[in-house]
Amino acid sequence: MVIFMKLEIKNLKKNYGQKTALNGVSITFEAGIYGILGENGAGKSTFLNLLTDNVARTSGEVLSDGADILTLGKKYRRKLGYMPQQQGLYEQFTGKAFLFYMASLKEISLKEAKGQIQELLLKVNLSDAAGKRISRYSGGMKQRLLLAQALLGKPELIILDEPTAGLDPKERIRMRNLITEVSKDKIVLFATHIVSDIECIADYVVLLHRGEALRIDTPANLIDEVKSRIFERQCKKEEIDEVRTKYPYGNVLQKRDGLVYRIAEERQPEGFLPAKEDLSLEDVYMFHIGRKIAD
Ligand SMILES: Nc1ncnc2c1ncn2[C@@H]1O[C@H](COP(=O)(O)OP(=O)(O)OP(=O)(O)O)[C@@H](O)[C@H]1O
Ligand SMILES: [Mg+2]
Repeated sequence: MVIFMKLEIKNLKKNYGQKTALNGVSITFEAGIYGILGENGAGKSTFLNLLTDNVARTSGEVLSDGADILTLGKKYRRKLGYMPQQQGLYEQFTGKAFLFYMASLKEISLKEAKGQIQELLLKVNLSDAAGKRISRYSGGMKQRLLLAQALLGKPELIILDEPTAGLDPKERIRMRNLITEVSKDKIVLFATHIVSDIECIADYVVLLHRGEALRIDTPANLIDEVKSRIFERQCKKEEIDEVRTKYPYGNVLQKRDGLVYRIAEERQPEGFLPAKEDLSLEDVYMFHIGRKIAD
């Protein structure tokens, strides 16, 4: 029997001076894709940087199969692939040279690196561009190259900080498909502030808000939980502004028979009807986070 990795986070905290960026998060990750969803400044990067040990924690524990990652050191880092939010790419390198450089930092032997790099370039569709300088890559190509370097060394834990940032719709879908493809039997953590990025691919969603994990569950359960609190009303275009003044966090949906303004409330407000169709993670986000940001 193959035993897959388990990563336990216990009461993890991070303060930057007076500022609390992460306020006691506890989660156990096992194989699957986890969408870490939260607005700008919610603490996503801080959380991921604590899991990669790029940032020192204030308190709490991060256990890989029962042992703290600080004690495991290199042993843990070998199982880890990380794609940072900022593009720290060496623009003068070719894509291939960059991957060899990253492989050497990860202490992968040259022979092993050759095989893996060839495979990864093919996977992220950069084989033809591998000999070009990174400065000539498009945003999508750079992100795919960053994903490839995260996959060097066949990590069991893949941490991706906004892998779809700056990508056009076609490249976003491509990135999503790639992530699904490489995720089998692995823990994949995927941070984003865009709900549609994780829709359809996340096995679990972690809703992060102001340094706290508000909810962690499957998309289906999260949608079930809020479905009786989502309301909508048909609106003419000229009415939208007025409704928005009262419910600034609401979403406008384009339906076959016109526009609909959708909101999340504990009780049904006058003039609104319960939303019956097309409930999605957008509604979950609106209920748990959107409403609160608008406060
Ligand atoms: N090095 C730092 N020093 C001080 N404060 C910081 C530092 N890094 C992050 N913060 C603060 O901690 C909070 C969480 O930031 P973090 O970057 O983790 O959020 P995020 O969810 O990744 O946001 P984004 O979507 O913009 O990437 C923010 O209020 C941020 O200003
Ligand atoms: Mg971030």
